[in-house]
Amino acid sequence: MHKFKQLANNIQFLIESESWPAHKKLPSLREQAQSSGYSVMTVLNAYQELEAKGWIYTKQKSGYYVSEAISHVSKTSNKLALNTNIEINSLVFDHLKHLQKEHVIPLGSAFPSASLLCNTYFMKTLSRHAKIPNSALSTDSMPPGYLQLRQVIASRYSLNGISTNPEDLVITSGALDALNLALQALTKPGDFILLQQTIFYGAWQAAERLGLNVITIPEHYQYGFDLEAFENALKNYPIKACWLMLNVHNPIGFTVSNEIKSTIAALLQKYEVYLIEDDVYQELFYEKQKPLSVKYFDKGNYVLHCSSFSKILGAGIRGGWVNSGKFSNVIQHLQLMSTVSASNLMQHALADFMSSHHYEKHLRQLRLKLHQTKTAYYKLLQEILPIACEVYYYATGYFLWIKLPEGMDSSILYQCLLEKNIVIAPSILFQQDHLPSNYIRLNCSFELNDKVRRALQIMVGMIHDLVEGKVV
Ligand SMILES: Cc1ncc(COP(=O)(O)O)c(C=O)c1O
Repeated sequence: MHKFKQLANNIQFLIESESWPAHKKLPSLREQAQSSGYSVMTVLNAYQELEAKGWIYTKQKSGYYVSEAISHVSKTSNKLALNTNIEINSLVFDHLKHLQKEHVIPLGSAFPSASLLCNTYFMKTLSRHAKIPNSALSTDSMPPGYLQLRQVIASRYSLNGISTNPEDLVITSGALDALNLALQALTKPGDFILLQQTIFYGAWQAAERLGLNVITIPEHYQYGFDLEAFENALKNYPIKACWLMLNVHNPIGFTVSNEIKSTIAALLQKYEVYLIEDDVYQELFYEKQKPLSVKYFDKGNYVLHCSSFSKILGAGIRGGWVNSGKFSNVIQHLQLMSTVSASNLMQHALADFMSSHHYEKHLRQLRLKLHQTKTAYYKLLQEILPIACEVYYYATGYFLWIKLPEGMDSSILYQCLLEKNIVIAPSILFQQDHLPSNYIRLNCSFELNDKVRRALQIMVGMIHDLVEGKVV
């Protein structure tokens, strides 16, 4: 794309999203050239292009101004939103701190109950490796990671129809490390990335930390993913990377269809845009068949697929990976400047455990248990929640996404419950766009014992109080 077109697209987006309102004066050619690093000629070409399209107009001897009508029409038709100054890190930090407190009921946690993850055979494997002289100290697991572990992960990809070379894999310190490294490899501060409107807070945190501008697309009310809005964004804006969750979406829970995933892959190739696919819950499906990833349909190598062991063996393991293709080298560079590598001992133990039949057995048992527990929560909540609430149930993972009565602010419910040592996850942790904030995410992996039932009853009582205006 020509430089002037890229600049014109950036400015167009600022106008469409109303970050630059109608009749705002644009920076002078020289100011714009200084702040963007483009030449004055490139800026002039960009302004002329925008003027020809009706996005801006000139006033004699005064400069360029934002036009009025076009910005409104476009905003309502393309459903996209721009988020420039993201501020979520402190909020997430406080949330995670609340979850660490003693005696809390962690219904707002993203981690599955440790009691479901603990696997005796894995623990034995770990302790056996710990006893091998020098095993924990050797450096054979430095980036890109322990070869045998990369080989077993690569063979699992291949069994799922994604032929993968172990050389393409980089073992990381959990999925968050993989996702962050991938994003860092693909972007520089000030770039545009694309996220789903409601998404795991780690994506917002990464964008805040790296100084990125975020364009969001809304969830499709029926299919989970709005292909029209997606193509609109790719076509019109200089997006450097997308970060999407299409399987077992956190926080909502949906999995989008194979048709949609296949179209996403084709669009990425058409517009030459990379996707960071966050697939950490890929193993937590209840149906017979594991859902496919976009990576499966990725003929042009535009997908960097990230996952980890956090949701199946425990987040404390800090073991994850990115299937990074040609970006392996860049990612290893970045890794060696930050987290260096995942634990050597853990990589050895994981390679051993994954090669045994105990791994699949563990996954089967985990899925079954999660299915039973989540269904039990769902049934109970259907019975006790006020009729004005709606529970979104998807046959995957361990989250329930709940709509509270219209107009209720889930952050207030969150604050009230904190005083009772109950932590839920309010929707502001997952969104930035001033959207309705009457949603919460509940973690349903914990045994539904008396303590948890009581906590849910307290939550329901609080919702009633908020509806009746008893809480101010
Ligand atoms: C959607 C999503 N992606 C990534 C992560 C990070 O996982 P890890 O613990 O492997 O870094 C989480 C953790 O909660 C998550 O929910």
